[in-house]
Amino acid sequence: MMGPPGSGKGTCARIISKIYGIPHITTGDLLREVASEETERGRMVRGYMERGELVPDEIVIGIMEERLSRPDCEGGFVLDGFPRNLGQAEALDRILEGKGVSLTHVLNLVVGDDVIISRLSLRRSCPRCGAVYHLKNNPPRRDEVCDECGAKLVQRSDDREEIVRHRLEVYEEKTRPLLERYRRAGLVREMSGDLPIDEIPEAVRRVLESG
Ligand code: AP5
Repeated sequence: MMGPPGSGKGTCARIISKIYGIPHITTGDLLREVASEETERGRMVRGYMERGELVPDEIVIGIMEERLSRPDCEGGFVLDGFPRNLGQAEALDRILEGKGVSLTHVLNLVVGDDVIISRLSLRRSCPRCGAVYHLKNNPPRRDEVCDECGAKLVQRSDDREEIVRHRLEVYEEKTRPLLERYRRAGLVREMSGDLPIDEIPEAVRRVLESG
């Protein structure tokens, strides 16, 4: 999954994961787990994330290498939030080559900055199972409580407007250029990140299964 912060990568990747029965691997959630540790590494990761900066490659790549080596990845997986710069894209190529597999699709979600900023202010996420809601577009059935596991929903500290604006700048500078690399390899499929949520499953099938 590619697309700016808040474009709906997590929402769409969870749908793909359910349709195709493959794990949804999100660096954001893996790093939030590390950031919750009261260790030097945890505090360092927390600092980068709260400022909306990319966490250093050596940490992220190590985490992804370990995650992708687990048996549940053997039948495929959907990556959300990785790679995010050239060094990570090259590391992913090496990891996949080592496993004897390759990327089949890069699904790029297209959505404007104004939509993103208003969306992220109303996002709530589940700290226990990672489910994502929007208080207006995709609300939980019970106020601020996760439908899937019953935990109390939280607002991410990096969803404050000034941090979201900085995350968008980091995306433009470091991540968007990767699209060109994947376009040259013929892998990129574009999809609107602003479809009604109940239309996403059909749109995903159309885009991914059309070759
Ligand atoms: P991460 O958690 O990956 O955040 P992100 O990429 O900025 O993306 P988001 O999770 O904010 O949004 P999303 O595109 O998944 O949208 P969502 O589905 O939630 O990364 C956070 C931080 O971790 C980074 O800033 C960095 O510090 C660090 N990090 C992560 N990966 C890293 C890496 N590889 N290297 C270094 N550092 C890394 O949707 C957003 C909202 O919109 C939700 O409320 C949702 O319900 C709603 N919504 C979604 N789709 C729709 C729709 N179609 N219509 C209406 N509402 C919708």
